[in-house]
Parts: sequence; C-alpha cells; structure tokens
Amino acid sequence: MIGIFDSGLGGLSVLAAIARALPRADLAYLADTAHVPYGSKSDGFIRGRVAAIGDHLAARGCRMLVVACNTATAAAVGELRERHPQLPVVGVEPGVKPAAAASRSRRIAVLATESTAKSERLARLIAAHAQDVAVHIEPCPGWATRVETLHADDPGFSAEVAARIEPLLAAGADRIVLGCTHYSFLTPILAPLVTGRAELVDVADAVARQCLRLAGPAAGGDGRLHLYATAQPERLRAALPALGLGWLAERERGQPALARI
Ligand code: DGL
Repeated sequence: MIGIFDSGLGGLSVLAAIARALPRADLAYLADTAHVPYGSKSDGFIRGRVAAIGDHLAARGCRMLVVACNTATAAAVGELRERHPQLPVVGVEPGVKPAAAASRSRRIAVLATESTAKSERLARLIAAHAQDVAVHIEPCPGWATRVETLHADDPGFSAEVAARIEPLLAAGADRIVLGCTHYSFLTPILAPLVTGRAELVDVADAVARQCLRLAGPAAGGDGRLHLYATAQPERLRAALPALGLGWLAERERGQPALARI
C-alpha cells in the first residue's frame, strides 16, 4: 500500500495521477484537515505534523510514503526520510526544472504558498535548475483555502486570480508553475487566463512516474482506496466528485476514517 498525504484536498490531484499510473496499487490518502492550511504555518509545526502522519500511515501498512504537498516537502521531507529509512519517500517540488527547460522567453513564474515561497528548498531548486532563467516567485495566500472550502468558483476570486497572473504574463513569463498541489484544482480559472501566452506546469504526472519507479512491493494490491482525515472525514469523500474525481470514489473500501493524530 502507498500512503499519500497533504494538508487537505490538494494532494488529491497527486493521488489521482498515482491511481492512473498504478491501477493495482492499494492507496491510502490522508488529509490533515484539522490543520489546513500549512502554507501560513511555521516549519517546526509542519515538521511535527509530517512526522505524526508518516508514523500513522506506516503503522497502517504503507510501504511507500508520498508527500503530496509542496509546503510539507520543503519543510520536512528530509526528516521524514530519516524517520523511515526503510521506506521509499517521494516528495513534491514545484516544476521549476521542466519550466526552465521549456521556457522560450527565459522567464518563468512560480505560484506557491507563503511557506514554500520563502523556503530554502525552493531557492536551491532554482539555483540548481534555473540559473539562466528569470524566476518570479508569487506567494498566493488564501488560494489553498479557496480550494479547501470548494469556493473557488466565485467571480470575486476569479478576479483576484486574474490580478495576480496578469502582471506575470505582462512581464513575459511563458511558464506558470503550479507550486502547490491545491492549485491543480484552479486550472479551470487559470487556463483561460494564460491561453496563448503561457503554459501551466503541474508535476502530478511526473510524481506518479517517480512512484512507479520506486514503488516495488508497495505497488501491489487490489486497487483499493482508503481515505483518512484528521477532521470531517466525510467531507473528503464528498469532495471527490466536486473536484472531478468521482471515479476515485469507486475504488474506495469502507467509510472515510477519522485519523486521531
Ligand atoms: N497543498 C499544499 C502544497 O502543495 C499546501 C497548501 C496549504 O495547506 O497551504 O503546498
């Protein structure tokens, strides 16, 4: 079984990609809904949550862990690997490398939570893969919460998104990196804004390919899905069709469970 987690619903975009790439694998998804959003919290707090969630999933039989959250990866993936040296651990990082490689204008922008935006890990990623490219980092406070509350489709929010994206396009960015897994679910708002001027870069499929490479025995199973949340687990299942992932609900076995961690 593969354990996948995020602060809330965002990691479902990664879960969906993994479920497509590894159709037989049993999957456990944990949303830390009692503590979402992570993006405005301290690294120490996030590290504590990641340690507790990793222990919880490992105790439930997960043989690989996927940190389906850029914020948690930036703050805590190193510690998680040290804590579970026997398990493959896959993190999610903003797609700076593919964006920089593909950019013709040599200007890219990264949309991220406040925490990821100021992280050393993102700075190192840019230094390693985008030295010859101008990289603009755009923190987007409140966006993950919009997805979380399934209230991304109101005109006021669309206008706020447009106001953030327009200056990036005007400055010539031709790749816009979705540096938070929640932002995949904002594609219906973002795609029309950038069409013809830039492309959105989402790493969910690349993360799924990495899982395919590393899963080994964790890839086996009957294609079951177990859902866990640290608050309101039933909301997690209800969110699947609302986010266009109704097909995942068919894999679910049992009721979504409350994780008391
Ligand atoms: N989905 C997460 C990420 O990829 C975190 C969003 C949040 O909780 O602030 O960064």
